[in-house]
Amino acid sequence: MMAVEIGVLPAEIQQVEAEAVVVNLFQGVKHPGGATGAVDRALEGAIERLIAAGDFRGQLNETAVLYTGGKIRAPRVILVGLGEAEKFDLEKVRQVSAASARRARELGVRSLATIVHGAGIGNLPPREAARAVVEGALLGLYEYREYKSPDPQERPGLEKLLIAERDPAKVAEVQRGAEVGRIMAEATNRARDLANRPANHLAPADLAELAEEMAQRAGLECQVLRPAELERLGMEALLAVARGSHRPPRFIILRYEGDPRSKEVTALIGKGVVFDAGGISLKPGEGMHEMRMDKSGAAAVLGAMEAIARLRPRANVMALIPAVENLPGGDAQRPGDVVKTLGGKTVEVLNTDAEGRLILADAISYAVKRGATRLVDVATLTGAIIICLGHAAAGLFTNHRAWADEVRAAAEAAGERVWELPLFEEYEKLIKGEVADLKNIGPPREAGSIVGALFLKEFAGQTPWVHLDIAGVAWGIKEVPYQPATGATGAGTRTLIQLFLGRAEPGGSSK
Ligand code: BES
Ligand code: ZN
Ligand code: ZN
Repeated sequence: MMAVEIGVLPAEIQQVEAEAVVVNLFQGVKHPGGATGAVDRALEGAIERLIAAGDFRGQLNETAVLYTGGKIRAPRVILVGLGEAEKFDLEKVRQVSAASARRARELGVRSLATIVHGAGIGNLPPREAARAVVEGALLGLYEYREYKSPDPQERPGLEKLLIAERDPAKVAEVQRGAEVGRIMAEATNRARDLANRPANHLAPADLAELAEEMAQRAGLECQVLRPAELERLGMEALLAVARGSHRPPRFIILRYEGDPRSKEVTALIGKGVVFDAGGISLKPGEGMHEMRMDKSGAAAVLGAMEAIARLRPRANVMALIPAVENLPGGDAQRPGDVVKTLGGKTVEVLNTDAEGRLILADAISYAVKRGATRLVDVATLTGAIIICLGHAAAGLFTNHRAWADEVRAAAEAAGERVWELPLFEEYEKLIKGEVADLKNIGPPREAGSIVGALFLKEFAGQTPWVHLDIAGVAWGIKEVPYQPATGATGAGTRTLIQLFLGRAEPGGSSK
């Protein structure tokens, strides 16, 4: 996608020059007020007539197009429904902004002006509302087109998004919010691109190369460990997973140092399985192609690191990505094999498809050994989290109340839903090994996501740790206009960035 230019104008929407302008309407309103009312008056009641005819009800994400015949500067008005006033919030702002931007694109509109949904009658803080408008539009316009031949019939995409704010007292806040929104959405779209890339075009070594290029551009330190080094270090669990593929693993390390006097270091750890066939415990064929997105955690971490490098927060961040491919090759690990982890514990591999926890175990131990003072891992770890929470929330697990509360607050402020699940002590026995210290799976169907998280917890030790299981939200979210109906969502990216926003300039506070 071409980058969309964003601008903020201190102006009434009807005065803005653009190919279309967006105004809104709550459900049930017959006589619009605010900016929509002003546009309606200029159009001599065309919006009221549309409502009176029953052709527009203001339902959430409903759109209608009106032609202005020169009565305002723009030739078209896109009217978008906000749904019920009592249910209106920033999530709805993202959605209606995406719905109207998509409608504009269908019309071939190149420049679009919008009001800040919610900042007027909706009573939302103008900075957050503007951020949500920009996020919604840029996320909603995303398409994965890397491998599509250019279509000569194709109309030009949206090039410019203008945000009109009529209240001069709100313009500076709107500007700040729009900038944060742009950074969030661009990072997320980058994560989507990475997660979507087919596995034949992205070996672990390619992922490492992309990380190196990004680090170079962004001014981050980058180090890539190859198999010989991983062996020397003792990352046997990661190496064992990688053995089934001809394409060797990499361990990617990125560093951002924004607070050199502090010893605090946050480690962001992302599961980077470029393809998960299951290994010898081979997955069924149906839906297997989706496992090219089993690197969604890694994509979120890389997207977030790029944004963090741009935001320059006063914080130290280490990003760790174990990058492997899980295939059933002739040298693949077998069910029943025992491996020794970097942390020292031995693991009985009873199911080679529970590979995420093996590579993350070594990554978590590496983070702890390298002095990380708090950890968050992001992983498409278990199918069970979809059974448990569906596609509306990531699972959150922790060994530390305060750190979990911070991550949860960041997710909420970023508009990404997480839901905490317990790590009951009595379930620890479910992963006690028979011939080794641990086994990598528990009994079938019993608390699968919790068991996966408990396995990871063994390696965090006393270091505050949060695990986000994003298997349900990394793709497969239907009917949310700012999420792609198929393909990667970039889940986790915004939450990770939000953790550092309060320590950065352009964003100001994180809430
Ligand atoms: N990558 C999968 C988890 C997954 C499943 C992500 C569906 C997204 C959608 C993971 O490596 C896996 O295969 N987990 C197993 C664990 C089981 C063997 C204990 C699973 O969920 O079935
Ligand atoms: Zn697996
Ligand atoms: Zn996996």
